[in-house]
Amino acid sequence: MDRLPAARRFVRRFVAGPALEDALGVAARLNAEGVDAAVTHLGENVATAGDAAQAAEAYLEVLEQIDRRKLRAVPSLKLTHLGLDLGEAVCQANLERVAARGLTARTLVWVDMESSVYTDRTLDLYCRLHGTYSNLACVVQAYLRRTARDIERLIEDGATLRLCKGAYREPPEIAFPAKRDVDESYARGIDRLLSAGAMTHNVYPAFATHDERLLDRARERARAGGLAADRFELQMLYGIRHDLHAPMRAAGLRLRVLVPYGEDWYGYFMRRLAERPANLAFFFRQLLRG
Ligand code: FDA
Repeated sequence: MDRLPAARRFVRRFVAGPALEDALGVAARLNAEGVDAAVTHLGENVATAGDAAQAAEAYLEVLEQIDRRKLRAVPSLKLTHLGLDLGEAVCQANLERVAARGLTARTLVWVDMESSVYTDRTLDLYCRLHGTYSNLACVVQAYLRRTARDIERLIEDGATLRLCKGAYREPPEIAFPAKRDVDESYARGIDRLLSAGAMTHNVYPAFATHDERLLDRARERARAGGLAADRFELQMLYGIRHDLHAPMRAAGLRLRVLVPYGEDWYGYFMRRLAERPANLAFFFRQLLRG
């Protein structure tokens, strides 16, 4: 796929480019349009401690460049990229290096959520470190049956958290198989996270979705609760529904776009294809044409 120009072009729809410079350029353009950014160095499930340390180095450089260029951007990383498969100690040491640098620069470090194999370990590590590194943020996935409980735990913690639908293939005992149930779970998450009770704990929710009905719901709930625009944010992915950016900004909503870069795009790209069958058809048409 790497060698096919048509495939590369299609990947570039979702990935800023191979180098950090590509992502920083996109982040600067987004900032100029009033949109914040989250920068992801693509990679996951590394096999050696050396690779995990390199991923941490890459994120230190992301933080350095964000600071130097005065960008409104934060890193968003995966724990298996920092070595979670190699043991929690390896991963924690790498995460702490990145979190400490972020804390000095007063920049959030967002910890993505991966498949359900990692949910407990990811949330436990987050909760353990959040007291020391108040700049850590985490993610919950509406498709998991457990998420309502996790949201309560994170509200108690006064967490900064992203609510997304969830992008991995999970068994029905663990995750709602029907899209309607996932959307309802997401809607319940919005209601709870924007409730007066949650706000008294200083929780800062980010609603990551391109689903207009849910985006409208978040906006409506915030308005009804009299919440200031800086008490929550909306998040979207680079390459998806850019047409929504301007109306959201015009409505005075905080918006952040996640911008991935790097060579290791396969897993990320495949999740973007899988969550929308139309992408797959379009992709194969491009390949045939190419
Ligand atoms: P839904 O799938 O219902 O799509 C709503 C509409 O959005 C579609 O009708 C279409 O118009 C558009 N759309 C959605 N996906 C598209 C695609 N791939 N290509 C083109 N159009 C598309 N997941 C996870 O498990 N862990 C994580 O840490 C994160 N992090 C994260 C950060 C941010 C900022 C976002 C926006 C998303 C994530 N996700 C994630 C991914 C998330 O779980 C989910 O898979 C995608 O956001 C797609 O679901 P939607 O909420 O957009 O809804």
